[in-house]
Amino acid sequence: MELREAIGDRRSIRYLDPDRPVELEKIQRMLEAARIASHFGNNNAVRALVVHRESATSEQIASLPSPVGGFQMQLAPVIILWYVEGNAMDEAGQRLRELVHCGALGYGPGKLKELEETLVPLFDRIGEALKGPGMVDMDLGQAVAQATLVAVEQGLGTCCQGSAEWAKVEAAFGLPESCRIVVAQTVGYPLESRNAGGQRPRLPFEDLFQLNSCDRPFPRSQEVVEELTREKLLQAPAPLLGREEEIEGIRERYKLPGSGMI
Ligand SMILES: Cc1cc2nc3c(=O)[nH]c(=O)nc-3n(C[C@H](O)[C@H](O)[C@H](O)COP(=O)(O)O)c2cc1C
Repeated sequence: MELREAIGDRRSIRYLDPDRPVELEKIQRMLEAARIASHFGNNNAVRALVVHRESATSEQIASLPSPVGGFQMQLAPVIILWYVEGNAMDEAGQRLRELVHCGALGYGPGKLKELEETLVPLFDRIGEALKGPGMVDMDLGQAVAQATLVAVEQGLGTCCQGSAEWAKVEAAFGLPESCRIVVAQTVGYPLESRNAGGQRPRLPFEDLFQLNSCDRPFPRSQEVVEELTREKLLQAPAPLLGREEEIEGIRERYKLPGSGMI
């Protein structure tokens, strides 16, 4: 599958086949993609704890919250708990030195001295603040985005899950105090059709992006839109015909709660 088509096919898939286990190799490929995502200062604070329904204990599964809609965590064969290890920031100086040594950052004979006198002290000073929500969450988002595209490319469906109960989950899985779950991602084989009811609505392009000044929308070329439509990055908008019936069929088959919103 081409990258652009994978981006177009990436949709939140809420209906996953509970009876079809996901191969751990497929999850590994997602994690490999997450690992090489961009991290500011190369801090490597993004972590993931994979909950594999087949091998996790029933207590662990029971500790997972039921976010919006409730049923998603119950159906998913795999739930990835994406979290930030705040203590990674304590090693920020070391990560920066590695960047210099591998030739990614800093040039010329004085590069190490410059690093030790400028960037390392700066990261040491602000390291504590950087552990909180902000840049590290951005890193986590990038990691999840890359992992998600690899999931799509392997025929899997995923959906991010928010919760106000992460503290309970952190305790149930024994995460250290320094760790903070940001999001869970349900993963499995979709029960939904490949198009999953069509591309979900977004605000108009012109309302979202600007060029040079806030009152100047970024010019949207129709030619580019047509190119991306041909390459399936842009797809038919939801709802597609038959979507309601498709979801009702799945709900009946798996006895999912009646008229929940999601
Ligand atoms: C950080 C994050 C948290 C989310 N939390 C939930 C959630 O708790 N339950 C849910 O059904 N969808 C959740 N979603 C999915 C969004 O609702 C979804 O991305 C949005 O409706 C757009 O649809 P699409 O992803 O199919 O394009 C979350 C997405 C993100 C990025």
